[in-house]
Amino acid sequence: MRSHLPAAALLAAVMLPVAAVAAEATARLPALSAEDSRRVGALMARMSVDEKVGQLNQVAGADATGPVSPAKAEDLAAAVRSGRIGSMLNIRGAAATRQYQQWAMRSRLKIPLLFALDVIHGYQTVFPVPLGETASWDLGLIEQSARIAAIEASASGIHWTFAPMVDVARDPRWGRVMEGAGEDPWLGAAVARARVLGFQKRRLGDTDAVMATAKHFAGYGAALAGRDYNTVDMSLQQLHDVYLPPFKAAADAGVASFMNAFNTLNGVPATGSRYLQTTLLRRQWGYDGIVVSDWGSVGEMITHGFARDAAHAAPLALNAGNDIDMESHVYDKALAAAVRSGAVATPTLDAAVRRVLEMKARLGLFKDPYRFSDERRERQALSNPAHRLVALEAARKSAVLLKNHERLLPIPPRVRHIAVIGPLARARRDLEGGWLVNSSPQHVVTIAEAIKARAPAGTQVTVLDGCDVDCASDAGFAAAEAAALQADLVVLAVGEGWDMTGEDRSRADIGLPGRQNELVQRVARAGKPVAAVVLGGRPLILNTVAEHAGAILLAWLPGSEGGNAIGDLLFGHVNPSAKLPITFPRSVGQIPISYAHYMTGRPAGAVRAPYRSQYIDSPNTPLYAFGHGLSYTTFEYTAPALSAAAIKADGKATLRFTLTNSGAVYGEEVVQLYVHDEVASLARPVRLLRGFRKVGLQPGASAQVEFTIDRATLSFIDASLASVVEPGSFRLMVGAASDDLRLEARLEVLP
Ligand code: NOJ
Repeated sequence: MRSHLPAAALLAAVMLPVAAVAAEATARLPALSAEDSRRVGALMARMSVDEKVGQLNQVAGADATGPVSPAKAEDLAAAVRSGRIGSMLNIRGAAATRQYQQWAMRSRLKIPLLFALDVIHGYQTVFPVPLGETASWDLGLIEQSARIAAIEASASGIHWTFAPMVDVARDPRWGRVMEGAGEDPWLGAAVARARVLGFQKRRLGDTDAVMATAKHFAGYGAALAGRDYNTVDMSLQQLHDVYLPPFKAAADAGVASFMNAFNTLNGVPATGSRYLQTTLLRRQWGYDGIVVSDWGSVGEMITHGFARDAAHAAPLALNAGNDIDMESHVYDKALAAAVRSGAVATPTLDAAVRRVLEMKARLGLFKDPYRFSDERRERQALSNPAHRLVALEAARKSAVLLKNHERLLPIPPRVRHIAVIGPLARARRDLEGGWLVNSSPQHVVTIAEAIKARAPAGTQVTVLDGCDVDCASDAGFAAAEAAALQADLVVLAVGEGWDMTGEDRSRADIGLPGRQNELVQRVARAGKPVAAVVLGGRPLILNTVAEHAGAILLAWLPGSEGGNAIGDLLFGHVNPSAKLPITFPRSVGQIPISYAHYMTGRPAGAVRAPYRSQYIDSPNTPLYAFGHGLSYTTFEYTAPALSAAAIKADGKATLRFTLTNSGAVYGEEVVQLYVHDEVASLARPVRLLRGFRKVGLQPGASAQVEFTIDRATLSFIDASLASVVEPGSFRLMVGAASDDLRLEARLEVLP
């Protein structure tokens, strides 16, 4: 059993030369050539205030991904021709982007447009939703999927994706957890970097690279009560320690743009936050890319009660550091007047405009405004079978085996009759997931079809929904129970539909939708072994499933190839290797919940004692912890050795150990390093992820695994917001999950 693709040759066409790029230093935005600098300078000298404001005005084309109805095409064309629009979102296709670019070329200064789009988990080829793909902990694969999304999107004329979302999120009620990398800053930073490098092809400039966006700056993932667009209130120390590292990683990887956020942070709308956008991003981080608002968020500062009106909002946003106004039309209405009245200084306006023009120059658009809009390339890129193979690999590597009691999975050949039951058994569109650019459900293989295709000849496969995904009625439950009774094994396909997570999809109850839990109970009444396949874009409350199913495979919303991947995993053609990037709680009452919690003065013990930090009606522990994920093989962790018992704060040590595949099949293990700073000037979390490796081993084989322990591993953000390594004792823990730690060592940091 190997997680290998069938057609390696096809895949080679899109594989990155990883060895060649691994040694490359941190990527930054490419410097501008002398010629481009002169070109931008000359243009700026000729631009009127209105033309400058036009470069900062971004409007939507056909599809609305926000609450405002888009203008009619002829109005947009006229606005483009008059130079009042600098970039557009939601126009796509080589032909359509070419058409709009032609209008831009008729404007006085012939400044090309930028075309932006939310390319969240693929363009034509659909990959698992980002949270699911993060569960692979496979940075090469994640970079690869972003690369393919960029190859496809750029061939359709797109210059700029509004991805990756790098918000750390610890509240699964928030539907947008689906779009991010989960709860952890370290994993989030690594994934942010991989995605930026993938979208931008490590260095912008080629026609198959797109600008990436680190969003939403900042704190959006901590929306109170998990309700989208809601208030965020947290200490700056928490912000810096937990929520900012993925943004910093994206900036260090040379991300072309940042998007600010809908939320207020400690009372100030992120869009109007001078602290975030100017003090931190520009001055402290030295960031020189573009900052774009979120959809309408410049105007929403009025609704927040932070700006009086458009005339007030425009200078507030620009002076705070927001370069481009996406779809609130506030800059269009009020920015020129603000410049004329002195509310915005000309150098401030010019700096924002220059950043936009420089980006257009980096993309080569002044030399050839149509270089991304090539219909022949578009046809080829959107029908490349190699892309589909990477989507298959991504879906295989993203599915987490949450439970496997008595090795119920993989499905043994002796099973003669399988009942595939549940609202998602025959789903196609749901497998693709939400927020797609192109949906082709007709090309998606269902879970039931995938099982039929892989079941040994002569196996009977019965398929039955039981209810639809909303599961309002129990009318089909009796038939489902009867079908289960006839079978040797039940595969139960339950979970969320494609449109139950994402933006504007907060849920107060994150259990299985409707009466699906009752369906699970009814099917289990038949007394047959049940393997559940769970779909969803967020952590769900799975107690009922865990109680009644012997095995649970969490497939997320796995994309174009999800059905095939699930089939491969169920039958053991591929061994599951994914691990949770976010905690699965037992109840909504435990939220927010993270593996990286604090000790408190009264930690709960293994045995219940009074007056402890605990619930009277629930354990503190989650149902499935961060980092959890099983395999069809077993791994042993042995022989830990730390190169030094004590180091200086700026020193290094190496932690080595042996990992052995002690089972009977090939497997990949995500080895995790956690650190606990025992005594510090601020109380520190009980454990923090500070390293990981994904290691593939044949049965019986061993590998030496090594982690470097250094400043990055040991530091934290102190009360003055400085990154410090404080002297004292550190516990280093290595294991298979945050709640399955196998090895421990102690390191002393000397004063
Ligand atoms: C609002 C979302 O918050 C943001 O992530 C997205 O990029 C924009 N809409 C544009 O669709």
